[in-house]
Amino acid sequence: MQQQFDYDVLIIGSGAAGLSLALQLPRDKRVAIISKRELSAGSSSRAQGGIAAVLDSTDSVESHIQDTIEAGAKLGNPKAIRFTVENAKQSIEWLIQQQVPFTEDNAEQQGYHLTKEGGHSHRRIIHAADRTGWAVSETLLQRAKEAPNIQLITHKVAVDLITNAKTGLPGNRCIGAYILDQETGHVDSFSAQAVVLATGGASKVYLYTSNSDGCSGDGIAMAWRAGCRAGNMEFNQFHPTCLYHPKAKSFLISEAVRGEGGKLLLANGQPFMQRFDERLELAPRDIVARAIDHEMKRLGDDCVYLDISHRGKKFISTHFPTIYERCLEYGIDISKDPIPVVPAAHYTCGGVVTDQHGLTDVEGLYAIGETAFTGLHGANRLASNSLLECFVYAQSAAQHILRNWQTEYPAQSIKPWDESQVTDSDEDVILSHNWDELRRFMWDYVGIVRTNKRLTRAQHRVDLLLAEINEFYSNYRVTSDLVELRNLAVVASLIIRSAQQRHESRGLHYTLDYPNTASVARDTILTPHNYLWA
Ligand code: FAD
Ligand code: SIN
Repeated sequence: MQQQFDYDVLIIGSGAAGLSLALQLPRDKRVAIISKRELSAGSSSRAQGGIAAVLDSTDSVESHIQDTIEAGAKLGNPKAIRFTVENAKQSIEWLIQQQVPFTEDNAEQQGYHLTKEGGHSHRRIIHAADRTGWAVSETLLQRAKEAPNIQLITHKVAVDLITNAKTGLPGNRCIGAYILDQETGHVDSFSAQAVVLATGGASKVYLYTSNSDGCSGDGIAMAWRAGCRAGNMEFNQFHPTCLYHPKAKSFLISEAVRGEGGKLLLANGQPFMQRFDERLELAPRDIVARAIDHEMKRLGDDCVYLDISHRGKKFISTHFPTIYERCLEYGIDISKDPIPVVPAAHYTCGGVVTDQHGLTDVEGLYAIGETAFTGLHGANRLASNSLLECFVYAQSAAQHILRNWQTEYPAQSIKPWDESQVTDSDEDVILSHNWDELRRFMWDYVGIVRTNKRLTRAQHRVDLLLAEINEFYSNYRVTSDLVELRNLAVVASLIIRSAQQRHESRGLHYTLDYPNTASVARDTILTPHNYLWA
């Protein structure tokens, strides 16, 4: 039986962004937080390095702003950058109030240890050893479980947003979402006065990634189908150092390892970053990832090496306990041996276009966290600015929702999801085949180094896949695999189209056909009604 549920605020996503927003709403608002897998399934709980904020008296807001602009190859929106950086300290204070157990260091101001990462001119990364995301997620989840007004709902997949326009009513307001219950197989409807997309990024669109399986860009695709613009989708960040080991699936070696002195080496033990950037291992990520990619291709090597062994076992096992232990499981003692590493897709810098309150182009619909495009990251995200963005925009979105609250909001009558025409598929091989094909051509043709020809090839392939997937979607009962594949194809198409529009190389978008950087920096904004497949 299909069901209808009604809440005040519906938050899709239980990561840092979704949980923080829920916790900033007052107790009289009935809040639902939906996750398509377990509550800690997204990227937030995997975050290692930490959260960037100016917390030391020798550091300054202007310096953090300048580093963010530089790392973003001067494309970032100055207003969004200033807004985020100025609100960073307050966000950290809020996290401390929630009892996040950050690593302490009495020698430093505030009593917390601050580490360093690429592109930062100061030590300004507050962290919980090398499992910051886990510490933040567990703490916020605990607070959410204690809140009587918050309901945490797992294993339900948002399929699409429900808007006035789609139901034939005037205007374009989001009034809820269709949600697949993975236990019953039915699609239920959820209505709410405010709907928040906190669905994380889309790096699963690439074959090799640091992200977990669910990072399929659902929020970006759903918002696009609901009429929202997508911004700067060509800028997908590749983290320079993921563990290269046949049994290690997408395990990250934190940038903080380089921040604490880790050296990148070739197989023959020679360093190479001096040939690419004077900041060496601590150059922004786009530069380090491209340098590694270049060296691997030049030498035909499968990986390069990251060596932190000179810091000794005590330092390493205290500062990087998770990385140390995980590598040991694979037979690598990082206090003695260098770590084999490769770049992998890590972070979606673009996303759903929002304003400073996380508000999208559709009334009543917000997007926060990695799914949003606020303008903060420009052409390349500065390390540890992502969790920060989650907290700052969760707060501004919560405030906006409350300021605009309608006490007389009318009850919405939502048409139930139409299940009459569909049957179960007997061809699920199409889904797994298309999933693999999509991720492979995105890696090969739309990866770290691009060309016009490769982008055209990718565009032809994604158009074919979109047609096939949409046909499948209309004929068969919806499943979580189908939802993710459909969304991944939309995201791939947005990345390719955005990359084709950028006739320059800037930050994470590097193309051999336009190797120079244009004198004027412009965002790439795509609008759904200009595309047939929207
Ligand atoms: P997520 O934490 O990814 O959560 C997304 C949520 O949405 C999940 O609950 C998921 O189940 C749910 N969801 C998605 N689609 C649907 C759907 N259709 N229906 C229902 N639910 C759905 N950033 C930093 O600033 N510092 C770091 O140290 C750092 N380290 C990182 C390490 C790793 C390995 C990775 C992968 C990322 C790291 N990042 C780091 C990036 C950062 O962790 C993420 O950008 C951030 O956590 C995103 O948070 P979020 O709340 O937007 O999304
Ligand atoms: C890391 O620890 O290297 C990840 C930091 C980030 O993605 O900001």
